[in-house]
Amino acid sequence: MISVAMKDQLQVPSPRRFYVILRYMLVALISLSVIGLLSSAVVLIVISKPCPNTKWWQNTLIYQLYPRSFKDSNGDGIGDLVGIKSKLDYFKYLHVDAIWINPIFSSPMRDFGYDISDYKNIDPIFGTLTDFDDLLKDAHEKGLKIILDFVPNHTSDKHPWFMESRKNRYNPKRDWYVWADGINGEPPNNWQSVFGGSAWQYDNITDQYYLHQFLSQQPDLNYRNEDVRDAMKSVLVFWLEKGVDGFRIDAIKFLLEDVHLRSEMCLIHEQECPCHSLSYEQLNHTYTENIAGIHDIVKEWKKVINSYSNQGSLRFMVGEIYDDDISTIMSYYGSPNDMDECDFPFNFLLVDLPLKEWTGTGVNDTVAKWLDASPNGAWPNWVVGNHDNPRIASKLGIQNSALVMMLLLTLPGTPTTYYGDELGMTDVFVPFNATKDQMSIGNATRDPERSPMQWDNSLHAGFTSGCCPWLPVGNFTTVNVHVAKAERDSVLNVYRSLALLRSNVSALQGISYTPIYADTSVYIFQRGDNSDILKVVVALNFGNEFVTEVWQHVTFAPHGVVMLSTRMDRNGQNISRANSELHAGEGVVVQIGHT
Ligand code: NOJ
Repeated sequence: MISVAMKDQLQVPSPRRFYVILRYMLVALISLSVIGLLSSAVVLIVISKPCPNTKWWQNTLIYQLYPRSFKDSNGDGIGDLVGIKSKLDYFKYLHVDAIWINPIFSSPMRDFGYDISDYKNIDPIFGTLTDFDDLLKDAHEKGLKIILDFVPNHTSDKHPWFMESRKNRYNPKRDWYVWADGINGEPPNNWQSVFGGSAWQYDNITDQYYLHQFLSQQPDLNYRNEDVRDAMKSVLVFWLEKGVDGFRIDAIKFLLEDVHLRSEMCLIHEQECPCHSLSYEQLNHTYTENIAGIHDIVKEWKKVINSYSNQGSLRFMVGEIYDDDISTIMSYYGSPNDMDECDFPFNFLLVDLPLKEWTGTGVNDTVAKWLDASPNGAWPNWVVGNHDNPRIASKLGIQNSALVMMLLLTLPGTPTTYYGDELGMTDVFVPFNATKDQMSIGNATRDPERSPMQWDNSLHAGFTSGCCPWLPVGNFTTVNVHVAKAERDSVLNVYRSLALLRSNVSALQGISYTPIYADTSVYIFQRGDNSDILKVVVALNFGNEFVTEVWQHVTFAPHGVVMLSTRMDRNGQNISRANSELHAGEGVVVQIGHT
Protein backbone atom coordinates (compact mmCIF):
# COMPACT_ATOMS: atom_id res chain seq x y z
CA MET A 1 0.00 0.00 0.00
CA ILE A 2 1.26 3.48 -0.81
CA SER A 3 1.34 5.67 2.33
CA VAL A 4 -0.21 9.20 2.52
CA ALA A 5 3.23 10.76 2.69
CA MET A 6 4.24 8.90 -0.40
CA LYS A 7 1.03 9.98 -2.14
CA ASP A 8 1.92 13.64 -1.36
CA GLN A 9 5.32 13.18 -2.78
CA LEU A 10 3.87 11.63 -5.91
CA GLN A 11 1.87 14.85 -6.58
CA VAL A 12 5.10 16.67 -7.56
CA PRO A 13 5.29 17.66 -11.24
CA SER A 14 7.55 15.93 -13.83
CA PRO A 15 10.46 15.44 -14.42
CA ARG A 16 11.15 15.52 -10.66
CA ARG A 17 8.20 13.25 -10.17
CA PHE A 18 9.77 10.71 -12.49
CA TYR A 19 12.93 10.56 -10.39
CA VAL A 20 10.98 10.32 -7.15
CA ILE A 21 9.04 7.32 -8.53
CA LEU A 22 12.27 5.77 -9.72
CA ARG A 23 13.78 6.24 -6.27
CA TYR A 24 10.85 4.50 -4.56
CA MET A 25 10.95 1.67 -7.06
CA LEU A 26 14.66 1.16 -6.41
CA VAL A 27 14.16 1.19 -2.62
CA ALA A 28 11.37 -1.38 -2.99
CA LEU A 29 13.51 -3.54 -5.25
CA ILE A 30 16.50 -3.50 -2.89
CA SER A 31 14.28 -4.30 0.12
CA LEU A 32 12.73 -7.24 -1.72
CA SER A 33 16.16 -8.63 -2.64
CA VAL A 34 17.37 -8.30 0.94
CA ILE A 35 14.26 -10.12 2.20
CA GLY A 36 14.82 -12.79 -0.48
CA LEU A 37 18.45 -13.28 0.50
CA LEU A 38 17.60 -13.42 4.18
CA SER A 39 14.87 -15.99 3.67
CA SER A 40 17.12 -18.24 1.59
CA ALA A 41 19.75 -17.95 4.30
CA VAL A 42 17.10 -18.93 6.86
CA VAL A 43 16.09 -21.92 4.74
CA LEU A 44 19.74 -23.03 4.47
CA ILE A 45 20.25 -22.66 8.20
CA VAL A 46 17.10 -24.67 8.83
CA ILE A 47 17.96 -27.44 6.41
CA SER A 48 21.65 -27.76 7.17
CA LYS A 49 22.36 -29.73 10.24
CA PRO A 50 25.78 -30.77 11.40
CA CYS A 51 26.07 -34.53 11.01
CA PRO A 52 27.70 -35.80 14.18
CA ASN A 53 30.45 -38.43 13.91
CA THR A 54 30.93 -38.15 10.18
CA LYS A 55 34.44 -38.44 8.83
CA TRP A 56 35.69 -35.88 6.33
CA TRP A 57 35.73 -38.35 3.46
CA GLN A 58 32.05 -39.09 4.03
CA ASN A 59 30.95 -35.52 3.44
CA THR A 60 33.39 -34.53 0.76
CA LEU A 61 33.48 -34.74 -2.98
CA ILE A 62 36.64 -36.42 -4.23
CA TYR A 63 38.10 -35.00 -7.43
CA GLN A 64 40.49 -37.23 -9.36
CA LEU A 65 43.08 -35.48 -11.45
CA TYR A 66 45.53 -36.99 -13.88
CA PRO A 67 48.62 -34.88 -13.21
CA ARG A 68 50.06 -35.12 -16.74
CA SER A 69 46.91 -33.53 -18.04
CA PHE A 70 45.67 -31.04 -15.48
CA LYS A 71 47.81 -27.90 -15.77
CA ASP A 72 51.28 -27.39 -17.21
CA SER A 73 53.26 -24.57 -15.57
CA ASN A 74 56.56 -24.79 -17.46
CA GLY A 75 55.53 -25.17 -21.08
CA ASP A 76 56.84 -28.72 -21.60
CA GLY A 77 53.36 -29.92 -22.56
CA ILE A 78 52.97 -32.09 -19.46
CA GLY A 79 51.02 -31.10 -16.35
CA ASP A 80 52.89 -30.64 -13.07
CA LEU A 81 52.59 -29.88 -9.37
CA VAL A 82 53.09 -26.14 -9.72
CA GLY A 83 50.29 -26.22 -12.28
CA ILE A 84 48.00 -28.03 -9.86
CA LYS A 85 48.87 -25.54 -7.13
CA SER A 86 47.93 -22.67 -9.41
CA LYS A 87 44.45 -24.16 -9.76
CA LEU A 88 43.58 -24.82 -6.12
CA ASP A 89 40.97 -22.07 -6.16
CA TYR A 90 39.15 -23.98 -8.87
CA PHE A 91 38.41 -26.72 -6.33
CA LYS A 92 37.10 -24.15 -3.90
CA TYR A 93 34.93 -22.77 -6.70
CA LEU A 94 33.60 -26.29 -7.35
CA HIS A 95 32.98 -26.89 -3.62
CA VAL A 96 35.26 -29.92 -3.85
CA ASP A 97 37.27 -30.64 -0.70
CA ALA A 98 39.53 -33.57 -1.58
CA ILE A 99 41.83 -34.19 -4.53
CA TRP A 100 43.19 -37.57 -5.53
CA ILE A 101 46.28 -37.23 -7.72
CA ASN A 102 47.37 -40.18 -9.89
CA PRO A 103 51.03 -41.24 -9.33
CA ILE A 104 53.59 -38.43 -9.27
CA PHE A 105 56.62 -40.44 -8.12
CA SER A 106 59.89 -41.11 -9.99
CA SER A 107 59.11 -43.32 -12.92
CA PRO A 108 60.30 -44.25 -16.41
CA MET A 109 56.63 -43.60 -17.35
CA ARG A 110 56.04 -46.84 -19.21
CA ASP A 111 52.62 -46.85 -17.53
CA PHE A 112 52.61 -43.12 -16.80
CA GLY A 113 53.61 -43.35 -13.17
CA TYR A 114 52.20 -46.76 -12.31
CA ASP A 115 55.76 -48.05 -12.79
CA ILE A 116 57.64 -46.48 -9.91
CA SER A 117 61.41 -46.36 -9.61
CA ASP A 118 61.54 -44.34 -6.37
CA TYR A 119 58.50 -44.30 -4.07
CA LYS A 120 59.87 -41.48 -1.95
CA ASN A 121 60.59 -38.94 -4.63
CA ILE A 122 58.70 -36.87 -7.17
CA ASP A 123 59.34 -37.43 -10.87
CA PRO A 124 61.11 -34.38 -12.37
CA ILE A 125 58.36 -34.19 -15.00
CA PHE A 126 56.00 -33.21 -12.18
CA GLY A 127 58.43 -31.18 -10.08
CA THR A 128 60.33 -31.71 -6.85
CA LEU A 129 59.65 -32.75 -3.28
CA THR A 130 59.65 -29.06 -2.40
CA ASP A 131 56.95 -28.44 -5.00
CA PHE A 132 54.96 -31.21 -3.39
CA ASP A 133 55.41 -29.76 0.10
CA ASP A 134 54.29 -26.37 -1.19
CA LEU A 135 51.26 -27.87 -2.86
CA LEU A 136 50.26 -29.76 0.27
CA LYS A 137 50.73 -26.69 2.45
CA ASP A 138 48.68 -24.45 0.17
CA ALA A 139 45.98 -27.09 -0.20
CA HIS A 140 45.71 -27.51 3.56
CA GLU A 141 45.58 -23.78 4.08
CA LYS A 142 42.62 -23.69 1.74
CA GLY A 143 40.94 -26.58 3.55
CA LEU A 144 41.63 -29.10 0.77
CA LYS A 145 42.70 -32.71 1.38
CA ILE A 146 45.31 -34.44 -0.77
CA ILE A 147 45.05 -38.16 -1.54
CA LEU A 148 48.02 -39.88 -3.18
CA ASP A 149 48.17 -43.00 -5.33
CA PHE A 150 49.96 -45.92 -3.63
CA VAL A 151 51.13 -48.53 -6.15
CA PRO A 152 52.21 -51.54 -4.09
CA ASN A 153 51.74 -54.53 -6.39
CA HIS A 154 54.64 -53.82 -8.72
CA THR A 155 57.59 -51.50 -9.17
CA SER A 156 59.28 -50.34 -12.33
CA ASP A 157 61.91 -52.68 -13.77
CA LYS A 158 64.22 -49.68 -13.26
CA HIS A 159 63.62 -49.62 -9.51
CA PRO A 160 66.94 -50.29 -7.69
CA TRP A 161 65.24 -53.20 -5.89
CA PHE A 162 64.51 -54.96 -9.16
CA MET A 163 67.86 -54.07 -10.69
CA GLU A 164 69.48 -55.81 -7.71
CA SER A 165 67.03 -58.69 -7.83
CA ARG A 166 67.75 -59.58 -11.44
CA LYS A 167 71.56 -59.56 -10.98
CA ASN A 168 71.87 -63.15 -9.78
CA ARG A 169 69.86 -65.87 -8.06
CA TYR A 170 71.58 -65.28 -4.71
CA ASN A 171 71.15 -61.54 -4.50
CA PRO A 172 69.54 -60.47 -1.20
CA LYS A 173 66.80 -58.75 -3.23
CA ARG A 174 66.14 -61.85 -5.38
CA ASP A 175 63.18 -62.89 -3.28
CA TRP A 176 61.64 -59.41 -3.37
CA TYR A 177 60.10 -60.37 -6.73
CA VAL A 178 58.51 -63.56 -8.04
CA TRP A 179 61.06 -65.61 -10.01
CA ALA A 180 60.56 -69.12 -11.40
CA ASP A 181 62.11 -71.59 -13.81
CA GLY A 182 60.51 -72.14 -17.16
CA ILE A 183 59.20 -75.53 -18.27
CA ASN A 184 60.62 -76.95 -21.49
CA GLY A 185 61.51 -73.51 -22.74
CA GLU A 186 58.05 -72.16 -21.90
CA PRO A 187 56.91 -69.88 -19.03
CA PRO A 188 56.36 -71.52 -15.63
CA ASN A 189 52.57 -71.68 -16.11
CA ASN A 190 49.67 -70.29 -18.16
CA TRP A 191 49.12 -67.05 -16.21
CA GLN A 192 48.27 -64.10 -18.40
CA SER A 193 49.02 -60.41 -17.92
CA VAL A 194 46.06 -58.03 -17.55
CA PHE A 195 47.70 -56.02 -20.33
CA GLY A 196 48.01 -58.96 -22.70
CA GLY A 197 50.43 -61.84 -23.26
CA SER A 198 52.06 -64.14 -20.75
CA ALA A 199 52.42 -62.80 -17.19
CA TRP A 200 56.02 -64.12 -17.23
CA GLN A 201 59.04 -62.41 -18.70
CA TYR A 202 62.14 -64.44 -19.45
CA ASP A 203 65.35 -62.87 -18.14
CA ASN A 204 68.49 -64.28 -19.71
CA ILE A 205 70.80 -62.91 -17.00
CA THR A 206 69.74 -65.71 -14.65
CA ASP A 207 67.80 -67.93 -17.05
CA GLN A 208 64.56 -67.54 -15.08
CA TYR A 209 61.21 -65.85 -15.57
CA TYR A 210 59.79 -63.03 -13.43
CA LEU A 211 56.12 -62.34 -12.85
CA HIS A 212 54.39 -59.19 -14.09
CA GLN A 213 50.63 -58.94 -13.89
CA PHE A 214 50.72 -55.74 -15.96
CA LEU A 215 53.51 -54.60 -18.35
CA SER A 216 56.75 -56.54 -18.44
CA GLN A 217 58.36 -53.31 -17.17
CA GLN A 218 56.21 -53.64 -14.02
CA PRO A 219 57.57 -56.68 -12.14
CA ASP A 220 55.35 -57.90 -9.28
CA LEU A 221 56.71 -57.57 -5.75
CA ASN A 222 56.69 -60.68 -3.59
CA TYR A 223 54.48 -59.97 -0.57
CA ARG A 224 55.41 -63.28 1.04
CA ASN A 225 58.69 -61.58 1.89
CA GLU A 226 58.53 -59.62 5.18
CA ASP A 227 61.18 -57.14 4.03
CA VAL A 228 59.00 -56.16 1.08
CA ARG A 229 56.06 -55.63 3.42
CA ASP A 230 58.17 -53.44 5.69
CA ALA A 231 59.63 -51.47 2.82
CA MET A 232 56.18 -50.68 1.48
CA LYS A 233 54.90 -49.68 4.91
CA SER A 234 57.81 -47.27 5.16
CA VAL A 235 56.58 -45.69 1.91
CA LEU A 236 53.22 -45.00 3.53
CA VAL A 237 54.95 -43.58 6.60
CA PHE A 238 57.10 -41.27 4.46
CA TRP A 239 54.06 -39.57 2.93
CA LEU A 240 51.98 -39.69 6.09
CA GLU A 241 54.77 -37.85 7.91
CA LYS A 242 54.51 -35.16 5.27
CA GLY A 243 50.85 -34.84 6.14
CA VAL A 244 49.01 -36.35 3.18
CA ASP A 245 45.37 -37.09 3.93
CA GLY A 246 45.02 -40.49 2.37
CA PHE A 247 45.83 -43.03 -0.30
CA ARG A 248 44.16 -44.70 -3.21
CA ILE A 249 45.61 -48.22 -3.32
CA ASP A 250 46.29 -49.56 -6.78
CA ALA A 251 45.56 -53.09 -8.04
CA ILE A 252 44.97 -54.60 -4.59
CA LYS A 253 43.63 -57.94 -5.74
CA PHE A 254 46.91 -58.83 -7.47
CA LEU A 255 49.16 -58.58 -4.40
CA LEU A 256 49.64 -62.33 -3.89
CA GLU A 257 49.69 -65.40 -6.11
CA ASP A 258 49.48 -69.11 -5.55
CA VAL A 259 52.70 -70.34 -3.85
CA HIS A 260 52.70 -73.48 -5.99
CA LEU A 261 52.33 -71.43 -9.18
CA ARG A 262 49.53 -73.68 -10.41
CA SER A 263 48.11 -72.96 -13.87
CA GLU A 264 44.64 -71.46 -13.93
CA MET A 265 41.53 -73.16 -15.27
CA CYS A 266 40.10 -72.26 -18.59
CA LEU A 267 36.80 -70.48 -17.91
CA ILE A 268 34.98 -72.12 -20.78
CA HIS A 269 35.57 -75.78 -20.01
CA GLU A 270 36.48 -75.58 -16.32
CA GLN A 271 39.56 -77.66 -16.94
CA GLU A 272 43.27 -77.06 -16.77
CA CYS A 273 44.31 -75.30 -19.90
CA PRO A 274 47.65 -76.46 -21.27
CA CYS A 275 48.30 -73.65 -23.74
CA HIS A 276 50.00 -70.35 -23.00
CA SER A 277 48.31 -68.36 -25.71
CA LEU A 278 44.98 -67.82 -23.98
CA SER A 279 43.84 -64.31 -23.21
CA TYR A 280 43.52 -62.94 -19.68
CA GLU A 281 39.71 -62.94 -20.00
CA GLN A 282 39.56 -66.66 -20.70
CA LEU A 283 41.14 -67.76 -17.46
CA ASN A 284 39.55 -68.25 -14.07
CA HIS A 285 41.94 -66.25 -11.90
CA THR A 286 41.83 -68.42 -8.81
CA TYR A 287 45.62 -68.44 -8.45
CA THR A 288 46.50 -64.85 -9.30
CA GLU A 289 43.74 -62.71 -7.77
CA ASN A 290 42.10 -62.15 -4.40
CA ILE A 291 44.30 -64.71 -2.65
CA ALA A 292 43.22 -64.94 1.00
CA GLY A 293 46.38 -63.50 2.58
CA ILE A 294 45.90 -60.19 0.79
CA HIS A 295 43.45 -59.08 3.46
CA ASP A 296 46.15 -59.29 6.13
CA ILE A 297 48.38 -57.02 4.09
CA VAL A 298 45.61 -54.48 3.59
CA LYS A 299 44.83 -54.58 7.31
CA GLU A 300 48.50 -53.86 8.06
CA TRP A 301 48.37 -50.77 5.83
CA LYS A 302 45.17 -49.63 7.44
CA LYS A 303 46.83 -49.88 10.85
CA VAL A 304 49.75 -47.77 9.67
CA ILE A 305 47.39 -45.19 8.21
CA ASN A 306 45.21 -45.19 11.33
CA SER A 307 48.26 -44.66 13.52
CA TYR A 308 48.58 -41.24 11.86
CA SER A 309 44.90 -40.42 12.30
CA ASN A 310 43.74 -38.26 15.11
CA GLN A 311 40.55 -36.32 15.70
CA GLY A 312 41.72 -33.32 13.72
CA SER A 313 43.18 -35.20 10.77
CA LEU A 314 41.75 -38.59 9.94
CA ARG A 315 43.67 -40.34 7.17
CA PHE A 316 41.76 -42.13 4.47
CA MET A 317 42.25 -45.26 2.36
CA VAL A 318 40.33 -46.25 -0.77
CA GLY A 319 41.01 -49.42 -2.72
CA GLU A 320 40.98 -50.16 -6.43
CA ILE A 321 39.41 -53.56 -7.05
CA TYR A 322 37.65 -54.38 -10.30
CA ASP A 323 35.90 -57.71 -9.96
CA ASP A 324 32.82 -59.43 -11.38
CA ASP A 325 31.98 -60.83 -7.98
CA ILE A 326 30.53 -58.08 -5.82
CA SER A 327 31.04 -59.94 -2.55
CA THR A 328 34.76 -60.08 -3.35
CA ILE A 329 34.83 -56.30 -3.73
CA MET A 330 32.90 -55.89 -0.49
CA SER A 331 35.40 -58.10 1.35
CA TYR A 332 37.90 -55.22 1.09
CA TYR A 333 35.90 -53.19 3.62
CA GLY A 334 37.47 -55.65 6.06
CA SER A 335 36.26 -58.17 8.59
CA PRO A 336 32.51 -57.86 9.15
CA ASN A 337 32.67 -56.51 12.68
CA ASP A 338 35.83 -54.46 12.40
CA MET A 339 35.66 -52.91 8.92
CA ASP A 340 39.43 -52.75 9.23
CA GLU A 341 40.54 -52.49 5.61
CA CYS A 342 39.56 -49.84 3.05
CA ASP A 343 37.33 -46.97 4.12
CA PHE A 344 35.68 -48.06 0.92
CA PRO A 345 36.63 -50.02 -2.18
CA PHE A 346 35.85 -47.96 -5.28
CA ASN A 347 32.43 -48.77 -6.68
CA PHE A 348 32.90 -49.22 -10.43
CA LEU A 349 29.41 -50.56 -11.15
CA LEU A 350 28.38 -47.38 -12.98
CA VAL A 351 31.72 -47.18 -14.80
CA ASP A 352 31.19 -50.71 -16.06
CA LEU A 353 27.47 -50.34 -16.79
CA PRO A 354 26.91 -51.11 -20.49
CA LEU A 355 25.30 -48.31 -22.49
CA LYS A 356 22.08 -50.25 -23.02
CA GLU A 357 21.62 -50.49 -19.26
CA TRP A 358 21.75 -46.75 -18.70
CA THR A 359 17.96 -46.70 -18.32
CA GLY A 360 15.86 -45.78 -15.29
CA THR A 361 15.57 -49.42 -14.33
CA GLY A 362 19.16 -50.25 -15.20
CA VAL A 363 20.56 -47.50 -12.98
CA ASN A 364 18.06 -48.23 -10.19
CA ASP A 365 19.10 -51.90 -10.22
CA THR A 366 22.78 -51.04 -10.28
CA VAL A 367 22.43 -48.79 -7.24
CA ALA A 368 20.47 -51.55 -5.47
CA LYS A 369 23.13 -54.10 -6.39
CA TRP A 370 25.82 -52.13 -4.55
CA LEU A 371 23.71 -51.17 -1.55
CA ASP A 372 22.23 -54.65 -1.10
CA ALA A 373 25.65 -56.27 -1.17
CA SER A 374 27.20 -53.76 1.28
CA PRO A 375 28.05 -55.14 4.70
CA ASN A 376 26.67 -53.43 7.81
CA GLY A 377 28.38 -50.15 8.48
CA ALA A 378 29.87 -49.91 4.97
CA TRP A 379 30.03 -46.41 3.54
CA PRO A 380 28.89 -46.33 -0.11
CA ASN A 381 30.62 -44.46 -2.93
CA TRP A 382 30.06 -43.78 -6.62
CA VAL A 383 32.27 -43.32 -9.65
CA VAL A 384 31.30 -42.69 -13.27
CA GLY A 385 34.70 -42.16 -14.85
CA ASN A 386 38.44 -42.46 -14.40
CA HIS A 387 41.73 -42.60 -16.31
CA ASP A 388 41.22 -46.23 -17.34
CA ASN A 389 37.79 -45.96 -18.96
CA PRO A 390 36.09 -43.98 -21.73
CA ARG A 391 34.61 -40.72 -20.53
CA ILE A 392 30.98 -40.76 -19.46
CA ALA A 393 30.09 -37.85 -21.79
CA SER A 394 31.39 -39.88 -24.72
CA LYS A 395 29.46 -42.91 -23.62
CA LEU A 396 26.10 -41.24 -22.87
CA GLY A 397 26.38 -38.06 -24.92
CA ILE A 398 27.18 -34.61 -23.61
CA GLN A 399 23.42 -33.89 -23.44
CA ASN A 400 23.29 -36.32 -20.51
CA SER A 401 26.34 -34.98 -18.65
CA ALA A 402 24.47 -32.78 -16.19
CA LEU A 403 22.02 -35.62 -15.55
CA VAL A 404 24.83 -38.03 -14.69
CA MET A 405 26.49 -35.45 -12.44
CA MET A 406 23.14 -35.08 -10.66
CA LEU A 407 23.02 -38.84 -10.17
CA LEU A 408 26.62 -38.95 -8.94
CA LEU A 409 26.19 -36.13 -6.45
CA THR A 410 22.81 -37.16 -5.03
CA LEU A 411 23.31 -40.89 -4.46
CA PRO A 412 24.06 -41.86 -0.85
CA GLY A 413 27.79 -41.87 -0.07
CA THR A 414 30.96 -40.29 -1.43
CA PRO A 415 31.20 -39.37 -5.13
CA THR A 416 34.49 -39.28 -7.03
CA THR A 417 34.59 -37.04 -10.10
CA TYR A 418 37.16 -37.54 -12.85
CA TYR A 419 38.67 -34.20 -13.93
CA GLY A 420 36.76 -32.63 -16.79
CA ASP A 421 33.60 -34.69 -16.30
CA GLU A 422 32.23 -31.67 -14.44
CA LEU A 423 32.43 -29.84 -17.80
CA GLY A 424 31.14 -32.66 -19.99
CA MET A 425 34.60 -33.23 -21.52
CA THR A 426 34.61 -36.04 -24.08
CA ASP A 427 37.30 -38.48 -25.24
CA VAL A 428 39.77 -37.16 -27.78
CA PHE A 429 40.56 -39.08 -30.92
CA VAL A 430 44.04 -40.59 -30.90
CA PRO A 431 44.94 -42.75 -33.90
CA PHE A 432 46.16 -46.10 -32.70
CA ASN A 433 49.57 -45.67 -34.31
CA ALA A 434 50.02 -42.42 -32.37
CA THR A 435 48.91 -43.73 -29.01
CA LYS A 436 51.10 -43.01 -26.00
CA ASP A 437 49.55 -45.66 -23.75
CA GLN A 438 51.70 -48.79 -23.77
CA MET A 439 48.99 -51.14 -22.60
CA SER A 440 48.29 -53.02 -25.78
CA ILE A 441 45.22 -55.16 -25.82
CA GLY A 442 43.98 -55.25 -29.38
CA ASN A 443 43.37 -51.64 -30.41
CA ALA A 444 42.61 -50.45 -26.89
CA THR A 445 44.22 -47.26 -25.62
CA ARG A 446 43.48 -45.11 -22.60
CA ASP A 447 44.78 -41.91 -24.17
CA PRO A 448 41.34 -40.59 -25.23
CA GLU A 449 40.15 -40.13 -21.62
CA ARG A 450 43.47 -38.60 -20.52
CA SER A 451 43.48 -35.49 -22.70
CA PRO A 452 44.42 -32.06 -21.27
CA MET A 453 42.00 -30.23 -19.02
CA GLN A 454 40.06 -27.60 -20.94
CA TRP A 455 40.47 -24.33 -19.06
CA ASP A 456 39.58 -21.69 -21.65
CA ASN A 457 39.44 -21.09 -25.39
CA SER A 458 42.99 -19.89 -25.81
CA LEU A 459 45.57 -22.05 -27.61
CA HIS A 460 45.69 -25.60 -26.18
CA ALA A 461 42.70 -24.79 -23.98
CA GLY A 462 44.92 -22.88 -21.52
CA PHE A 463 46.51 -26.17 -20.46
CA THR A 464 50.03 -25.30 -21.59
CA SER A 465 51.84 -22.25 -22.89
CA GLY A 466 54.23 -24.53 -24.76
CA CYS A 467 53.94 -25.72 -28.33
CA CYS A 468 52.84 -29.23 -27.78
CA PRO A 469 50.50 -30.77 -25.23
CA TRP A 470 51.45 -34.41 -24.65
CA LEU A 471 48.05 -35.52 -25.96
CA PRO A 472 45.70 -33.72 -28.33
CA VAL A 473 43.25 -31.31 -26.71
CA GLY A 474 39.51 -32.03 -27.05
CA ASN A 475 36.58 -29.87 -28.19
CA PHE A 476 37.76 -26.95 -26.07
CA THR A 477 36.29 -24.03 -27.97
CA THR A 478 32.82 -24.88 -26.70
CA VAL A 479 33.63 -26.96 -23.62
CA ASN A 480 35.94 -25.17 -21.20
CA VAL A 481 35.88 -23.78 -17.69
CA HIS A 482 35.89 -20.12 -18.77
CA VAL A 483 32.89 -20.48 -21.07
CA ALA A 484 31.04 -22.79 -18.69
CA LYS A 485 31.35 -20.36 -15.79
CA ALA A 486 29.39 -17.80 -17.78
CA GLU A 487 26.61 -20.14 -18.91
CA ARG A 488 23.85 -20.45 -16.35
CA ASP A 489 22.88 -23.98 -17.37
CA SER A 490 26.36 -25.36 -18.15
CA VAL A 491 27.28 -28.77 -16.76
CA LEU A 492 29.81 -26.93 -14.59
CA ASN A 493 27.19 -24.70 -13.02
CA VAL A 494 24.87 -27.61 -12.40
CA TYR A 495 27.77 -29.52 -10.82
CA ARG A 496 28.68 -26.60 -8.59
CA SER A 497 25.10 -26.04 -7.51
CA LEU A 498 24.76 -29.74 -6.71
CA ALA A 499 27.95 -29.66 -4.67
CA LEU A 500 26.67 -26.67 -2.72
CA LEU A 501 23.30 -28.32 -2.20
CA ARG A 502 25.00 -31.44 -0.82
CA SER A 503 26.92 -29.44 1.70
CA ASN A 504 23.80 -27.58 2.83
CA VAL A 505 21.11 -30.23 2.85
CA SER A 506 21.45 -32.87 5.51
CA ALA A 507 19.19 -35.30 3.63
CA LEU A 508 21.86 -35.44 0.90
CA GLN A 509 24.58 -36.20 3.43
CA GLY A 510 24.08 -39.38 5.48
CA ILE A 511 23.26 -42.53 3.55
CA SER A 512 19.50 -42.82 3.79
CA TYR A 513 18.08 -43.79 0.42
CA THR A 514 14.66 -45.03 -0.67
CA PRO A 515 14.03 -46.04 -4.27
CA ILE A 516 10.61 -44.80 -5.39
CA TYR A 517 10.13 -45.64 -9.05
CA ALA A 518 11.99 -46.79 -12.15
CA ASP A 519 11.04 -47.56 -15.73
CA THR A 520 12.89 -47.59 -19.05
CA SER A 521 13.42 -43.82 -18.78
CA VAL A 522 12.77 -42.49 -15.33
CA TYR A 523 14.50 -43.21 -12.04
CA ILE A 524 13.18 -41.61 -8.85
CA PHE A 525 14.54 -41.94 -5.34
CA GLN A 526 14.24 -40.22 -2.02
CA ARG A 527 17.03 -39.06 0.25
CA GLY A 528 16.57 -38.31 3.94
CA ASP A 529 14.60 -39.95 6.69
CA ASN A 530 12.46 -38.81 9.59
CA SER A 531 15.44 -37.31 11.36
CA ASP A 532 15.84 -34.82 8.53
CA ILE A 533 13.87 -31.61 8.63
CA LEU A 534 13.25 -31.92 4.95
CA LYS A 535 13.57 -34.79 2.56
CA VAL A 536 14.62 -34.68 -1.01
CA VAL A 537 13.30 -36.49 -4.06
CA VAL A 538 15.55 -36.87 -7.09
CA ALA A 539 13.94 -37.63 -10.46
CA LEU A 540 16.13 -38.38 -13.47
CA ASN A 541 15.16 -39.08 -17.06
CA PHE A 542 17.67 -41.35 -18.79
CA GLY A 543 15.41 -41.82 -21.82
CA ASN A 544 15.53 -40.06 -25.17
CA GLU A 545 11.96 -38.78 -24.90
CA PHE A 546 10.07 -36.13 -22.98
CA VAL A 547 8.12 -37.84 -20.17
CA THR A 548 4.98 -36.58 -18.44
CA GLU A 549 3.11 -37.36 -15.22
CA VAL A 550 6.40 -37.93 -13.39
CA TRP A 551 5.00 -36.88 -10.04
CA GLN A 552 2.18 -39.43 -10.04
CA HIS A 553 4.71 -41.81 -8.51
CA VAL A 554 5.57 -39.53 -5.58
CA THR A 555 3.65 -38.30 -2.57
CA PHE A 556 4.67 -34.75 -1.81
CA ALA A 557 3.47 -33.94 1.66
CA PRO A 558 2.60 -31.16 2.16
CA HIS A 559 4.18 -29.97 -1.08
CA GLY A 560 7.38 -30.03 -3.13
CA VAL A 561 9.64 -27.32 -4.46
CA VAL A 562 12.32 -27.78 -7.13
CA MET A 563 15.67 -27.02 -5.51
CA LEU A 564 17.69 -27.63 -8.65
CA SER A 565 17.07 -28.75 -12.19
CA THR A 566 19.73 -29.72 -14.70
CA ARG A 567 18.29 -27.16 -17.13
CA MET A 568 18.45 -24.53 -14.37
CA ASP A 569 15.06 -23.17 -15.46
CA ARG A 570 12.75 -24.60 -12.79
CA ASN A 571 14.63 -23.83 -9.60
CA GLY A 572 12.17 -22.60 -6.96
CA GLN A 573 9.05 -23.83 -8.80
CA ASN A 574 6.31 -25.54 -6.80
CA ILE A 575 5.58 -29.09 -7.83
CA SER A 576 2.19 -29.50 -9.48
CA ARG A 577 0.53 -31.57 -12.17
CA ALA A 578 1.27 -28.73 -14.57
CA ASN A 579 5.03 -29.13 -14.28
CA SER A 580 5.02 -32.89 -13.95
CA GLU A 581 7.30 -33.52 -16.92
CA LEU A 582 10.96 -34.16 -17.55
CA HIS A 583 12.80 -33.51 -20.79
CA ALA A 584 15.13 -36.17 -22.16
CA GLY A 585 18.31 -35.99 -20.12
CA GLU A 586 16.72 -33.78 -17.46
CA GLY A 587 16.96 -34.31 -13.72
CA VAL A 588 15.50 -32.42 -10.78
CA VAL A 589 16.09 -32.35 -7.05
CA VAL A 590 12.87 -31.56 -5.20
CA GLN A 591 12.53 -30.72 -1.54
CA ILE A 592 9.55 -32.15 0.27
CA GLY A 593 8.15 -31.88 3.74
CA HIS A 594 9.11 -28.29 4.39
CA THR A 595 6.32 -25.70 4.43
C1 NOJ B 1 45.30 -49.59 -12.21
C2 NOJ B 1 45.55 -48.20 -12.71
O1 NOJ B 1 44.38 -47.45 -12.59
C3 NOJ B 1 46.01 -48.33 -14.14
O2 NOJ B 1 46.07 -47.08 -14.77
C4 NOJ B 1 47.35 -49.02 -14.15
O3 NOJ B 1 47.76 -49.21 -15.47
C5 NOJ B 1 47.25 -50.39 -13.45
N1 NOJ B 1 46.54 -50.31 -12.20
C6 NOJ B 1 48.60 -50.93 -13.15
O4 NOJ B 1 49.19 -50.21 -12.11
